Amino acid sequence: MKKLIGPFTQILSLTGLPLKGALQDEQLHIIPNGGVLVERGLILAIGNFNELRKATPSAHIEEITGQQVLLPGFIDCHTHICFAGNRANDYAMRIAGKTYLEIAKAGGGIWDTVTQTRAADEVSLVASLLQRANRHLAEGVTTIEVKSGYGLSLDEELKQLRAIKAASAQAEVKLIPACLAAHMVPKDFIGSQAEYLQHLVNHLLPIIKQENLSNRVDIFIEQSAINTENALIYLNKAKQMGFDITVHADQFTTGGSAVAVQTGALSADHLEASGDHEIELLADSDIVAVTLPGASMGLGMPYAPARKLLNAGACLAIASDWNPGSAPMGDLLMQAAVMSAAEKLSAAEVFAGLTFRAASALKIEGGILAPGLPADMQAYPCADYREILYYQGKLKPSQVWVGGEI
Ligand code: NIG
Ligand code: FE
Repeated sequence: MKKLIGPFTQILSLTGLPLKGALQDEQLHIIPNGGVLVERGLILAIGNFNELRKATPSAHIEEITGQQVLLPGFIDCHTHICFAGNRANDYAMRIAGKTYLEIAKAGGGIWDTVTQTRAADEVSLVASLLQRANRHLAEGVTTIEVKSGYGLSLDEELKQLRAIKAASAQAEVKLIPACLAAHMVPKDFIGSQAEYLQHLVNHLLPIIKQENLSNRVDIFIEQSAINTENALIYLNKAKQMGFDITVHADQFTTGGSAVAVQTGALSADHLEASGDHEIELLADSDIVAVTLPGASMGLGMPYAPARKLLNAGACLAIASDWNPGSAPMGDLLMQAAVMSAAEKLSAAEVFAGLTFRAASALKIEGGILAPGLPADMQAYPCADYREILYYQGKLKPSQVWVGGEI
């Protein structure tokens, strides 16, 4: 059964835009009085509502009333929303002026969430993950990447990845799992950093393959986490096993982005510490530079050099990094809008970074509204798309569709 959804005051299809580099709003393809023809979850046609209605008189009409602007659903290509507990204690210490290392020493940091997540059973992890995923969906996010990385042992990483898989089967929103067992060397592992990573290669990654739990491997490259030498060895082995690579890079110090480029990673994420050399390296590669404004806000740190990355010709995506430590807020649109004012990003650049450029970081199709693609979309109650960033995240979508279903 065909269904015609509309009329929308404006449709931003985000089609016809380049994958890399700066964008101007004049490049956006805007369809006034638009409609979307949907069949079996896929977009059949998109264009003028009245013309589509004339051409397909048998289609059921899903009528849109009032002023509404339609966009592709957002794709959040970097989150850590599978966790238990919270780290309000870390935040209190941070705003009282304590450093990252002081907080870790006082029992905070990633290890605190590992302890809380290990204490939770799979059922409760699934429930809290679904709650966060559903909140994201209501805010227009139709695809979410979800990392493990709060288990840090074979059994506990598998528990997290199985929880993500179980949640994925129950959720309307699309979840894409990633293995972040290389988040840090767990405090209870007896052996060196290199031995921990080899242990993951020998024992964890094969089970992940076998159970089809994820085809993405992530790592936190940082002086306080995994060093560049060990990271290179680990990522090359994961790649040989057929995994796609993504990297937490240049968050506090540089080094990670070069490893990401060298290993042919899909994306290098964070980049707050990236300088001109790293920007050039990223812009000259096919990698997606993922900026995480929520982590800058949560830690009270500068944003990644998003404007410079785009000017240099990089592919820039924007993700929430939603996690209990550095980015507890998890409001992707709000974060992107606030960053765009500071970094001077055009609406076209922000929406591209939240949609088709983020899809490229996940190696998936989508993030545009075009025939043959899933009807994953969101409508905002306004007359002009520019109002969406103008209200800095307070204007929420009035409707969200996944596969053409509200
Ligand atoms: O992306 N940088 C490392 N990992 C996370 C933070 C995880 C945590 O603090 O729990 C991040 O910011
Ligand atoms: Fe992260």
